[in-house]
This record gives sequence, C-alpha cells and structure tokens, in this order.
Amino acid sequence: MPGLKLGLDLGSTSITIYSENRGIVLSELSAVICDKYTMKPIVIGNNAKSMAEKLPDSMVCIYPIRGGIVYNYEVGSQLLRYYLNKVCAGRLLKPSVLMGVSSNVTELHKKTLFDLLTRAGAGSVCFIEEALAAAVGSGISLTEPRGTFICDIGGETTDCAVVTMGNIAVSRSVLVGGNQLNKQIAEYILREHNIEIGAFTADHIKRTVGTAIYRNDEIAVVAGGKNRDSGLPVLFEITSTELYWVLKSYNDQILGCIRSVLEATSPELVSDVAETGIILSGGSANLFGLDRFIEWNTGIRTVRAEDPENCAAKGLGRLLKNKRSLETNGYVYISPDDDYDDEQYE
Ligand SMILES: Nc1ncnc2c1ncn2[C@@H]1O[C@H](COP(=O)(O)OP(=O)(O)OP(=O)(O)O)[C@@H](O)[C@H]1O
Ligand SMILES: [Mg+2]
Repeated sequence: MPGLKLGLDLGSTSITIYSENRGIVLSELSAVICDKYTMKPIVIGNNAKSMAEKLPDSMVCIYPIRGGIVYNYEVGSQLLRYYLNKVCAGRLLKPSVLMGVSSNVTELHKKTLFDLLTRAGAGSVCFIEEALAAAVGSGISLTEPRGTFICDIGGETTDCAVVTMGNIAVSRSVLVGGNQLNKQIAEYILREHNIEIGAFTADHIKRTVGTAIYRNDEIAVVAGGKNRDSGLPVLFEITSTELYWVLKSYNDQILGCIRSVLEATSPELVSDVAETGIILSGGSANLFGLDRFIEWNTGIRTVRAEDPENCAAKGLGRLLKNKRSLETNGYVYISPDDDYDDEQYE
C-alpha cells in the first residue's frame, strides 16, 4: 500500500491535514496541554481550548509552533506524531508531506521543521509558501500568466503575495495576526475598564464585535472578567465602536504589508491585480469589514475567499494532485535518506 500524500497546514493556532483523494481529514487546535514538570502531553488539540484558561498549577498549555517557527521541539514532535498516526492509521509506508510555511521562515527554520516532521513519522517533506497554497486553494489557475493578490491572515502571521503561473512573484510576511488582536483587546479592557479577562474571552469579543470599519449600526456584547482591585467577578459591556479604535493600528499594519507588496510588484502584474482583485484567506480574514477596509484604502476590489480558514489546506490538496506543476516551480520532496547537502538549507 503506498504511503499517503498529505497536505499539512501547521498554523500557530490550528492544524489542518488534507489527504489526497479524501479531502480534509483533520482540523484541530495546534495546542497541547502538558504536565508542567515532565512535559508529557495530557490533552492534544481541540479539547485543550476550553481547558487552557482553567488549568491547575501542575499543567501548562503549549502552542509549539508560532509563525512557522518551532518554539518547543519536543512538544511539537509529539503533537505531529499524534496527528500523523491518527491520519495514517493502518498504513505501513510513511506519508509524504507537502507543508505550507510563511514566506519569512528561514532555511534554518525549515531544516528544524523537516527534522520535526520526519521524527514524527513523515517519509518525505516538501515546503511551499502558505500564501501560494492559499491562492491555489482560492481557485487560481496554475498555468495562466496572470497576477493574483493573496493576503493570508492567521493567528500569528500575515502573508501577502502576488502569484502568477502557480508561483510567487513577490511576497512579504509580517508577524501580525488574530492572536495579537486578542492581546490588544485584553490590554484595552484592563486599561480602560480596570477588568482582567482571559484569551478565550478576548477572542469571543473579537469575533462578536470586532470590526475593521466604523459601524454606524453599533453593536455590543456583554462579557465576564475580574475586577483588578477587588478580585471580584464582573460583567461588562463593550461596543463595536470601542473595538474599531482598538484594532485600528493592527488593520493599518495589514494594509502596510499589502501596500509594500504592491510597491515591489511589476506594473504589468499590478494591472492584473487591479482586475483580479485582492483575495483574503486565513481565519483572521473573517474580521468584520476587513475586506471593505482594504478595498477602500487600496481602490482594489477585495473579497474574502470561500471558507478562509481552510483555503491553504485546500490549496495544498490541489497541489498534491499537480506534482508536475510543483516540480516545474522548483518544489521538491526531501527524505531523510536523501544525501541532501546543507546548501539546500542555507
Ligand atoms: N470570525 C472571526 N473574526 C475574527 N477573527 C477570527 C474569526 N474566526 C477566526 N478568527 C481568528 O483566526 C485566527 C486563526 O486563523 P488560522 O487558523 O488561519 O491561523 P493559523 O493558520 O493557525 O496561524 P498562522 O498562519 O499565523 O500560523 C485566530 O486568531 C482566530 O481568533
Ligand atoms: Mg495559517
């Protein structure tokens, strides 16, 4: 039985695995709750979400990968081994893995990811820019010489790229993503309302009343926290107008990344983009009004991809079926048996 061909979107927040011919077979949180002293995993994936903010002192919640960088090698390899085993159950041959990475990931970081993946059970690995995978997932042609702009906004990173003929023409990546928004919201509520809230509540507030544009139809949400002075539980209300001002600098940073890519792109490709528009993908593309905010500030039609969270994983799936297109563009699979020289990773 041949080994499976997998597409892996190993994000800072979520992990999605696409299996050739079967589609998305796994979609989980990329978090592990471990014993603080032995670092043995106790809970892996989605179940960790509701527990993360309520752990006893003996446990810790770890997100081992952030912005494509391995922050905790041991926990990262346990997380990957667990999920690869789950997806490849009953297979004797090791899977080949096509993995999306942020364009700011250095060759040294790729080498670490390669070791991590092969230790976790991958037979061979090929890296591809996450923005390219997302562009392919949004349905662009892999052969047409026509520029398309993709902006993938995840939990920790924003990857912008102009893509043509199934390859990257220009790309930029900034360490700005939805998790940073959660921190800004928690800091604002502490500063202005003297109330402490957890990351889970901040994320809920962002998804409910977070906005990139000023809303005349102001909406509000009631959330719970802890008064900083008294330590007592409190309920408070927060509005979309407050959130608009809190999130403004973040949205400006995403706009800055888009502008810097446009500036570095050739006039011919920019003219294409003026016709094809800007496509937003990644979970943070769901922020209310972000598409309109970018469209108003660039003058370029901006649309959110269908199913933005899974766009990169779907693109990896499509690329698995187009091995020739990958090879033509210089993307190769490497296995631990290959006598690859370090030049590939310098
Ligand atoms: N409706 C929503 N409104 C605002 N943000 C959202 C919404 N839904 C999801 N998000 C945010 O999307 C982010 C996760 O997106 P995604 O799964 O694409 O990230 P990732 O791929 O794990 O991260 P990265 O690509 O940066 O490594 C989280 O910060 C989450 O809060
Ligand atoms: Mg991502």
